Amino acid sequence: MKILVTGMCGYIGSHTAVELLEKGYEVIGLDNFSNSKKEVLEKIKKITNKAFKFYEGDMIDRNILETIFKENDIKAVIDFAAYKSVGESVQKPLEYYINNVSSVLNLLSVMKENDIKTIVFSSSATVYGNPEEVPIKETSKIGGTTNPYGTSKLFVEKILEDLYKSDDTWNICILRYFNPIGAHKSGLIGEEPNGIPANLVPYIAKVAKGKLKSLNVFGNDYDTKDGTGVRDYIHVVDLAVGHVKAIEKLEKDKKGLHIYNLGTGTGYSVLEIIKTFEKVNNIKVPYNIVERRSGDIDSCYSDPEKAKKELNFKAKYTLEDMLKDAWNYEKNN
Ligand code: NAD
Ligand code: UFG
Repeated sequence: MKILVTGMCGYIGSHTAVELLEKGYEVIGLDNFSNSKKEVLEKIKKITNKAFKFYEGDMIDRNILETIFKENDIKAVIDFAAYKSVGESVQKPLEYYINNVSSVLNLLSVMKENDIKTIVFSSSATVYGNPEEVPIKETSKIGGTTNPYGTSKLFVEKILEDLYKSDDTWNICILRYFNPIGAHKSGLIGEEPNGIPANLVPYIAKVAKGKLKSLNVFGNDYDTKDGTGVRDYIHVVDLAVGHVKAIEKLEKDKKGLHIYNLGTGTGYSVLEIIKTFEKVNNIKVPYNIVERRSGDIDSCYSDPEKAKKELNFKAKYTLEDMLKDAWNYEKNN
């Protein structure tokens, strides 16, 4: 089965391409390299020893999408292509809405023209805003996003719901990721943030490597076990496997609109992450407690039961594995 993977060279796309190829799916990639490097293509080949087709292009360009669908017998799409920096989205809302919403409208309309209605969409736990309850269920309230990035994900979820309402032969899976971290065991692919990382684990890895002096822990007065923010970290390879499970479900069901949390169900605090990183990698991570970061919440972790029941998905990697693999990638790159 041929699957178009948009944003294939990025962090989650590259790991998902590996899992799909290893499961025997035919992968057609699309990426404009706005946040990734061409070398990733070689690395995916090296890990899997499998060939795949790739198009360099922008999803905002309808022509490239039309060409891809004309030249390939695509049966399903996994859509990763988007900008993802929360802070940058506040500075550049139009760029974010164009790239994260308009490009998806292009994709969906070209899919419709070609009568291909099977899609897995990358959403985020950010759509829950400041959650009313933890663990967060798929039925928990969504909305109250505090930045254009989060709102762009909310908009696309709504668009997909409206599309399904208009035509129930669409076969849609919305995956709400919690906090993906770690890297492939090979150390060949991983997260490559531009400039100074905004996310916790890539920042810790740079501090451990000596590229940054110390970690700023944003607040220790949250309503959590030790006062620092609690999140549901999931190994990126587990997340990639979650996409294969979603495709398997869509292949079986043929139509429907499904929403799943992809997380482990366990929340760890910032201090627990630092302590575990230090222990498993035998390296010090100097840190200072500073002011809260605006927009941050106390706790965010998933109820992963629905994905377990309906997708047969359960994250298998531990926090120790995630932090070892994150450091292994940082050391090698
Ligand atoms: P990433 O930036 O590493 O990957 C995105 C890829 O898409 C990059 O290779 C980029 O070059 C490409 N891209 C962006 N706009 C494009 C366009 N218009 N046309 C073609 N290619 C384009 O990000 P990621 O962490 O792999 O995230 C993948 C998806 O998952 C995104 O939609 C993101 O919003 C979502 N997500 C990520 C996280 C996270 O913490 N990483 C959490 C929740 C949701
Ligand atoms: N943190 C620090 N110091 C840092 C970076 C982060 O103390 O330098 C803390 C934050 O305050 C938070 C925790 O570490 O408590 C995790 O922060 P991240 O920035 O790594 O992740 P977030 O939970 O804030 O957000 C991430 C993505 C969002 C996505 C969300 C849920 O950046 O896009 O996970 O999936 F929506």
